[in-house]
Amino acid sequence: MSPVLASISNVSRTAETLRKADYRSYLPAVEQLERQGFAIIKVDSAILAEVEAVQDLAQAFFAEPGAVKHAYASPSCVEGYREIGPEYSLVPERPDLTESFSFWYRNRHRPEMEAWHSSCPLHTALHNTADTLCTVVDALFTAMAETWSPGAPRLGFQEASYIQINYYEPAQHSRELLQDPHEDGHLITLVWATEPGLEIKVDGQFIPVELAKNEMLIMPSSILSLMSGNRVPPLYHQVRNSRRDVPRYSLMFFVNPEITQKLEPWIRNDSNAGIDIIEQANSAPNKFGLPTLVDGAAGQGKTYG
Ligand SMILES: [Fe+2]
Repeated sequence: MSPVLASISNVSRTAETLRKADYRSYLPAVEQLERQGFAIIKVDSAILAEVEAVQDLAQAFFAEPGAVKHAYASPSCVEGYREIGPEYSLVPERPDLTESFSFWYRNRHRPEMEAWHSSCPLHTALHNTADTLCTVVDALFTAMAETWSPGAPRLGFQEASYIQINYYEPAQHSRELLQDPHEDGHLITLVWATEPGLEIKVDGQFIPVELAKNEMLIMPSSILSLMSGNRVPPLYHQVRNSRRDVPRYSLMFFVNPEITQKLEPWIRNDSNAGIDIIEQANSAPNKFGLPTLVDGAAGQGKTYG
């Protein structure tokens, strides 16, 4: 694989002012997505510092006793901690062999999450990192729109998107795959990972992804395929068990379209004719054991027994 591409600079939280100015640096990533089905972007030192701070806080959090971790879990809206069990990639009998912790924008004004801000630094750090990555995604989507449908309205994503850190203990498991093959059912997923394990399907074969510390992988999934008239197919991926006796952390920013917008594809053709893209995005989490976007936003996801 030939790594890439867009060098991200001048990222700040004033997304609206920088979005138009910065999108050109993401045009190579769009080209890579079309040509090879994935892209790798370099992140600047400020982003890397935020990501590494999240990892340090995650290391401390996941080492806490179960009771402490479950105090920061709200399964009905998929916020905070999740143990191994509820989430899977293919079938419920084979759960993803990872603990995880999530921050969703949609939940940030719930009183219990506001309370976490003072007592759970991991939650706050994830929120901050998501804010930064929103500027990256906003510029990337602008680059896509300029490539495929110049003048298209801005794609709203923040309220429906979430960031998650996964914690794996590979040596504790006998399975070959810690996550079975799947595509995420989102627009894109930005991935940063410290240890080997992630494999992506390219030309029919799973190949390992080796990311440098200052690189993130852009994984397209089915909602982006619908938006792009299948110019970019969904990227299937899995996590192989390295058997290593050191933890594996991976940080993912899962990007969904906001479900309140009327969404037209950037490219309309037979591949997306008659398909309600918002409804596809809404129901996609069901296939992994998670509530729809509507149910999760309403706090009506199932509570795990
Ligand atoms: Fe995934």
